[in-house]
Amino acid sequence: MRKLLLLVLILFPLLLFTNAICEENAVLYQSDFSSGSDGWYARSTGGARLKTTQDGTLAITGRSDNWHSPGRDFALAQGVRYELSVQVRQSEKAQARFMFSVAHSLGGFESYENLGSATVKKDEWTTITGSYTAGLFDRFVLYVETSDAPSAGFEIRDFRVTSAELVFAEEETIPALKDVYAGRFDFGTAVTFSELFNAERMAFYASQFNIMTPGNEMKPDYILDVFKSAQLAKTDETAAAVRFDSVKPLLDYAKVNGIKVHGHVLVWHQQTPEAFFHEGYSPAKPLVSREVLLARLDNYVKNIMTYLDENYPGVVVSWDVVNEAIDDGSGKLRDSKWLTIVGEDYVARAFEIARRHAPEGTLLFYNDYNTAILIKQMGILNLLKELIPEGNIDGYGFQMHHDVSFPSTMQIAESVRRIAETGLKLRVSELDVTIPDMSEESYARQAKMYAQIMNTLELYKDQLLAVQVWGVTDDLSWRASQYPLLFDGKAQPKPAFWAVVDPSSSL
Ligand code: XIL
Repeated sequence: MRKLLLLVLILFPLLLFTNAICEENAVLYQSDFSSGSDGWYARSTGGARLKTTQDGTLAITGRSDNWHSPGRDFALAQGVRYELSVQVRQSEKAQARFMFSVAHSLGGFESYENLGSATVKKDEWTTITGSYTAGLFDRFVLYVETSDAPSAGFEIRDFRVTSAELVFAEEETIPALKDVYAGRFDFGTAVTFSELFNAERMAFYASQFNIMTPGNEMKPDYILDVFKSAQLAKTDETAAAVRFDSVKPLLDYAKVNGIKVHGHVLVWHQQTPEAFFHEGYSPAKPLVSREVLLARLDNYVKNIMTYLDENYPGVVVSWDVVNEAIDDGSGKLRDSKWLTIVGEDYVARAFEIARRHAPEGTLLFYNDYNTAILIKQMGILNLLKELIPEGNIDGYGFQMHHDVSFPSTMQIAESVRRIAETGLKLRVSELDVTIPDMSEESYARQAKMYAQIMNTLELYKDQLLAVQVWGVTDDLSWRASQYPLLFDGKAQPKPAFWAVVDPSSSL
């Protein structure tokens, strides 16, 4: 017993310490100029030279341009976010503006980004900080430059690169959500373009999920080619040009990995270029007529469906045709350009258009949030009841962006029951549950809420096609400051993950 106590006493501070450093980023590089320039070199057209000093700093002299700088190659991994800091001192001007930057290249073609800047007063060591998420490049040089002191010599010390260490679970080491729910419904997530750069992350997603929604890249602000549409509008106001550059890599990933895609979204009051609603695709000109807007939507949807069917047949299995049309306060159609220009039947017309152009078998959804709030729920039900007889809607998507303290799981259960009564197919399109902090208690409450939601959904497995979380790791969530997802910022499964795997364990 005494031995055990001793062990606990020895281990306890150690455990605390380990915990403390787990919260910190890992230091990947820290400059050390005590025995040489540590891989740093002078970037210049000639003339600039580096020299290490006795007190462990690196000095540059002989500069004649702002970009003449101490620089060093770093092997950065695409898609990983790095935190950077450096201390700078100069003695030539009362003050000077400094930046640190990255020169990145792909296939020898170099381009630049400024990552952080600060004003450095004479003879005062000043810290510059910044962050950088490594893009699609094959070489990265980090360097410290000036913006208003092209010939000033200066010194740097303590250049640091840190990063949160993401450790994704290897396949088979934790259960895969798509397998856990196989035979009941698909399990998926939202994925955005920048996540693709991290191959480990994407391999992990493929091991967990069998359906995904591009988080932004299929919204009208990505898909509508405003410039080209405006060109076409000179001879045909109803034309709508589309482009797929941002979503293509996501579709390729889905196709290669056999992951289904849910399209999000065709008609929405947000993330839609204002130009869509104006003559000549010019926001300065008057609004178009109902006929023109519907004809534009028809062309827009037709062009999307044709492209997808030709290039990614069978990959996009369903669509949010209209998103968030109901107003929270009144339960009526919310004010939007769609309502103003087309009128009250715009939702029905959008579904009619989508049905006309979508490949056979594509399922068409109306998607909204706050379904558990009564007034909104009534509005949604009224809308669905108007749409159902026309035969163009297949289902309802619950966004389910919740907070651990609102709404109650009773309200959620009741709303699912009421919508299910319409007989429509169901999907949970954007599930996340925010919590105030990362405490054990908040994690446990969050887990319980996820468990209760999954328990409710289980009852509707015959009607429910998919459950999708809106992101995977907390750090990349659209509500990152409230830790709403199943994996933490280091990709470790949270209690919420285990609650989804086995709801009975967390109720
Ligand atoms: C969010 C994205 O996650 C963010 O990256 C973007 O800045 C804003 O939109 N309801 C929706 C989603 O239907 O499209 C929204 O996605 C979240 C709320």
